[in-house]
Amino acid sequence: MTSSTPHSASLDSLDSLDSLDLTGRTALVTGAAGGIGRACALRLAAAGAKVRAVDRDAAGLEELADAARGAAGGVEPQVLDLTDLDAAEQAAAGTDVLVNNAGLQLVRPLQEFPPDVFHTVLTVMLEAPFRLIRGALPHMYGQGWGRIVNISSVHGLRASPYKSAYVAAKHGLEGLSKTAALEGAAHGVTSNCVNPGYVRTPLVERQIADQARAHGIPEERVLSEVLLQDSAMKRLLEPEEVAEAVAYLCTPQASFVTGTSLVLDGGWTAH
Ligand SMILES: NC(=O)c1ccc[n+]([C@@H]2O[C@H](COP(=O)([O-])OP(=O)(O)OC[C@H]3O[C@@H](n4cnc5c(N)ncnc54)[C@H](O)[C@@H]3O)[C@@H](O)[C@H]2O)c1
Repeated sequence: MTSSTPHSASLDSLDSLDSLDLTGRTALVTGAAGGIGRACALRLAAAGAKVRAVDRDAAGLEELADAARGAAGGVEPQVLDLTDLDAAEQAAAGTDVLVNNAGLQLVRPLQEFPPDVFHTVLTVMLEAPFRLIRGALPHMYGQGWGRIVNISSVHGLRASPYKSAYVAAKHGLEGLSKTAALEGAAHGVTSNCVNPGYVRTPLVERQIADQARAHGIPEERVLSEVLLQDSAMKRLLEPEEVAEAVAYLCTPQASFVTGTSLVLDGGWTAH
């Protein structure tokens, strides 16, 4: 590209992803005590962000804060149950980067699915993200920059049996994310989903027994016959790989990426 083309100046000056620098930025990561949220908190702290790590699991947050010692930014643990929606909205005030990650799963046929669990899943995985975005936007709009990253799933794009609440919440999150992208564009705020296939985390380890029961097969066959059945790549994704996708969406290189879903699924949705 020659220097006379309209976009050459900005494109020529872009550095590699390694250079992600969030010094002076605040990032809030929900569900940061374990799995994907923990990896995201560590990745953003390593990039210099001051990370507010939110979870209801106090011990997990303490362990995260220990692990983050020495990171360029830092991790500030905040014990919070996201079903307290007013507290969730308040917690998001003043953040530059918001990672909506907290989640839970129950695998049960629809006719047996407990309504109170359905309600909790929708509250934590859809209504809390709405309230966190609502709490974060005034500061983001005020400064003309913000990054919203919603950890969705292949289940934001595809359904699986026995996961009614989870699939409903993730499909809803996709819509919320796109709406935030449309409204935020004029204010320098991007909103995107990251959509992993199965990731090696406690959430997946916990559902192996449930899946075995629901499908009537032994636990040792769940990984290959249920979880990875539709994945072209027959391995679990690592939490750190998801954190890299989140980091990418915070880079200058991704400033035109908004309202989309970044799928990391080993080919699952290529079917
Ligand atoms: N593990 C996977 O295979 C996978 C795949 C696709 C998407 N995801 C999504 O990634 C996100 C993280 O999942 P994970 O696998 O790391 O799960 P995880 O169970 O390891 O971590 C989830 C975290 O959310 C926290 N949490 C749950 N309910 C909460 C509440 N009411 N208030 C505050 N914190 C709460 C938990 O304490 C936990 O630390 C979820 O949104 C999940 O749907 C996971």
